[in-house]
Amino acid sequence: MLFSALATLLVPVLAADVVVPVGRLDKDRTTQDTPNKDTQDFHQPSYPEHPFFDYQESSNITALLGKTAVLNCRVKNIGNKTVSWIRHRDVHLLAVGGFTYTSDDRFTARHAAASQDWLLMIHYLQERDAGLYECQISTTPPQSHLIHLSVVEPETVIAGGPDIYINTGSRLTLTCSVLHSPEPPAFIFWYHDNKLVSYERTRGSGMEVSTERGSVTTSRLLVQDARPRHSGRYTCDPANSRRRSVTVHVIAGDQPAAIDSLEYEPPLVGTCTFTATR
Ligand SMILES: *[C@@H]1O[C@H](CO)[C@@H](O)[C@H](O)[C@H]1NC(C)=O
Ligand SMILES: *[C@@H]1O[C@H](CO)[C@@H](O)[C@H](O)[C@H]1NC(C)=O
Repeated sequence: MLFSALATLLVPVLAADVVVPVGRLDKDRTTQDTPNKDTQDFHQPSYPEHPFFDYQESSNITALLGKTAVLNCRVKNIGNKTVSWIRHRDVHLLAVGGFTYTSDDRFTARHAAASQDWLLMIHYLQERDAGLYECQISTTPPQSHLIHLSVVEPETVIAGGPDIYINTGSRLTLTCSVLHSPEPPAFIFWYHDNKLVSYERTRGSGMEVSTERGSVTTSRLLVQDARPRHSGRYTCDPANSRRRSVTVHVIAGDQPAAIDSLEYEPPLVGTCTFTATR
């Protein structure tokens, strides 16, 4: 951990010792430069401007738990300077130039020759990876830019659970939403008592499924005319998020209409009548 603590101090030294390539300072290049493997894909433009960050292209990011996060640091006019990645939390040096410095092999540094982008990839994201990462240019004094990584886990919610009671003949609508998902799930499946509910309107089942994708993706399962056979366990199973279940109880039609009729819609067809008795 001494190494980590000294990381910031070491960067300029490491940069000078390890990364600065030899030669190739010719002002007029007539032939294409082929980067030397030993000197790690590094160019030395001859213009003298000071390096600076492109903040637009080095922004905060949000990534999914268990997936890969790609943090980018874009630096213009790098000259003969070096770009390093440091984890802010414990001042742990992660990458110098295109080298990965940490022993944690979930981290990979990437830098293509002549590119202005220094990438830090973090694989198999964990909650504890969330936080600030510092992109540092080895100027004197060093220039720093902080990038925040959020690690999110999508959440599945079914409105009205865990138990839903409705009258026979009522309309049943189950609404399942996927929250905190950086991209909409590729699909959302519904199961009724472990049997897949088809997206195609199947004759006889009386169930319809529709899905709207967006920053919150919502899937609805609709039964226009709920029957006792529609009772049971309904499971919403999104591609990128945990499955969730509710239990639906369709109350037999001959029971007194003791339930608030505003919440439970009356039957759509007039074959059964409710008689309110006091
Ligand atoms: C980097 O370039 C500057 C001028 O552009 C030069 O003064 C300096 O010595 C160079 N540093 C290294 C480590 O080559
Ligand atoms: C990046 O995240 C940090 C920490 O959450 C925040 O302070 C900063 O304003 C964010 N920057 C941008 C450009 O959103």
